[in-house]
Amino acid sequence: MDSNLTQHQELLPEELQGSAVNLDLTLPGSTGRKFYIESYGCQMNFSDSEIVASILAQEGIQSTRNIEEADMIFINTCSIREKAEDSVRKRLKEFKPFKKNKPELVVGVLGCMAERLKAKFLEQEQLVDIVAGPDSYRDLPNLLKKADDGDKGVNVFLSREETYADIAPMRLDENGVTAFISIMRGCDNMCSFCVVPFTRGRERSRSSYTIVAEAEDLYLRGYREVTLLGQNVDSYKWVNPETNELTNFAHLLEMVAKVNPQLRVRFSTSHPKDITDEVLYTMAKYNNICNYIHLPVQSGSSRILELMNRTYDREWYLDRVSAIHKIIPECAISSDIITGFCTETEEDHRETLSIMELANYSMSYMFFYSERPGTPAAKKYKDDVSLEIKKERLNEIIRLQNRLSHHHNQADIGKTFEVLIEGNSKRSEDMFKGRNSQNKMIVFNKKGNYQPGDYVTVKVDSASSATLHGTITA
Ligand code: 5AD
Ligand code: SF4
Repeated sequence: MDSNLTQHQELLPEELQGSAVNLDLTLPGSTGRKFYIESYGCQMNFSDSEIVASILAQEGIQSTRNIEEADMIFINTCSIREKAEDSVRKRLKEFKPFKKNKPELVVGVLGCMAERLKAKFLEQEQLVDIVAGPDSYRDLPNLLKKADDGDKGVNVFLSREETYADIAPMRLDENGVTAFISIMRGCDNMCSFCVVPFTRGRERSRSSYTIVAEAEDLYLRGYREVTLLGQNVDSYKWVNPETNELTNFAHLLEMVAKVNPQLRVRFSTSHPKDITDEVLYTMAKYNNICNYIHLPVQSGSSRILELMNRTYDREWYLDRVSAIHKIIPECAISSDIITGFCTETEEDHRETLSIMELANYSMSYMFFYSERPGTPAAKKYKDDVSLEIKKERLNEIIRLQNRLSHHHNQADIGKTFEVLIEGNSKRSEDMFKGRNSQNKMIVFNKKGNYQPGDYVTVKVDSASSATLHGTITA
């Protein structure tokens, strides 16, 4: 449930990075109606929006990037922190003039906020016509019909089975090189601060053969990198009902890696309690499985980890870090950190700073604790660290991470990496951008006939804490 955004996410939180997507698709059975969709929050939401787009396209509804020509607006929402919900509400207000100009316009709220607030949303936000939770997207055509008839459409049923395994997502990203594949849904972990088990329901894994088929299809369409997505990928588990054979995450990784050596494989998110040596050895065995693990620590204090119900302690986490370094020496590790959790003392905070140094994160997503209604922490503990202290500690954590990222990147100067070209750099059409296996963004000169989707060898010439700069050498 983490995003593949910038290293300065704390400045530009993921939930603020709403993004409209475009899909200029005219199907033969087109109704002439158009939808506009914006996604907030984690990669899973962006991936879910591609399922929604596919379901709507089946109904002959086309995508548009131009909100003014839309007949329906969907907003795929995030509940992870209060701020995430605030930005969605703010965005909903901005939709009001469109509805005023076009009363038949349908506004739909999808995802975690829909699930958390259910029909209450309809009372709170008058302009909303549809409320659909993460497991009810197949019902969208029905809900739309209701909205068209002037009723409200609500479906927040959470399923134990739904994985949308048979739905081919409409790729809404535009680079045509990297794509997400959702391998499981929900979460059974019950970290005490987290609302996800309540908004996304029980954990369930998608069949391995549909995942492999999706990766094969993407490869044939020119994609060169897939990211396997789940709240907790290491607990992926699928039993073939015909053979009773069990596929775990290490097996799945291997199956996807074998699709083609030219198809890179990434995954997110790993849970420190579940990541096994078997997964690490599989990563070491295949060149095309990227040397990068997002392994959220949340806190460096064993006492706080216990209150968070993370089910590992500081020593366990550091043991996993050592195993990663031993089995995959070139592997970069990144993290999520929450500061100011209930009862956190200055000493606990120091332990978080020290674990960041010991793990030597290449980057981190850093947050201060935001109490979420209904979570175990909200029920059991007092949110007793003042906002002022939370912010102070967060700043200290951010400063440390910037220093660690800077060091990490400086150490890459002079090294050469295989880089997958994703497209033009944001700043200049004369430069390409792409990532190395360690998930670091590298900006480099254009040379020869290289195109997005090609692999090139790049030598790093300089580095900031966010980006590497280099030159193509082959
Ligand atoms: N407050 C602050 N951060 C949170 N996260 C999850 N719940 C909360 C919360 N209540 C963070 C965790 C998680 C990331 C996606 O968001 O670090 O890994
Ligand atoms: Fe939330 Fe913990 Fe599950 Fe991640 S593993 S989604 S933090 S409950």
